[in-house]
Amino acid sequence: MKNLAVLVSGGGSNMQSIADSAKNGALKGLAKVVLVISNNHAAYALERAKNENIKSVCVERKNYADAFSFNAAILKNLEENKIDIVCLAGYMTIVGVDIIDKYKGKILNIHPALLPKFGGRGMYGHRVHEAVIEAKEKKSGATVHFADENYDTGKIVMSEEVPVFDGDTPELLAARVLEAEHEIYPLAIKKVIENLDKEV
Ligand code: GRF
Repeated sequence: MKNLAVLVSGGGSNMQSIADSAKNGALKGLAKVVLVISNNHAAYALERAKNENIKSVCVERKNYADAFSFNAAILKNLEENKIDIVCLAGYMTIVGVDIIDKYKGKILNIHPALLPKFGGRGMYGHRVHEAVIEAKEKKSGATVHFADENYDTGKIVMSEEVPVFDGDTPELLAARVLEAEHEIYPLAIKKVIENLDKEV
């Protein structure tokens, strides 16, 4: 049974789908969400964690002198809770290199587009969907990838396409992509766990 930590900043719907999957879906018997870390005290994801009886901690950058000590505090929480796999889910800040190094091959992120297109610094949330529509793309989707010290550049684990319809607004496309996110994140985690078990 792998211990998962989910790092969040906002609504937490991906954390919810991972927790649900661990209870009665693809991750059942394989993994358990044991920790939610938010860098935003107002994140609804913290409410979701409470409702699921999942331990949560809030580590806010403003309480630390610099990014190094902020990330060290996050890493300490991960180690103290014996985390095996770190899932970034709407986590709106870059992850420190010490965490990336410690969890190489075991830290994932989900991005609301078909990477490598429409990724990178500043490409998050509505901006992604606006850019996809602006570019008159016929498809978009969700991508789970290994997180590295850059934005959205790690090796892709899994992606799922969704159509872009004429007249789509960023809101409509965002909702369609979010459904794909909720489907593939648990499956991507399962794939990583199965590959890790093979490596043993
Ligand atoms: C998702 O669209 C995800 O792709 C992006 O941030 C959003 C997180 O939503 N990284 P939620 O907090 O999981 O509901």
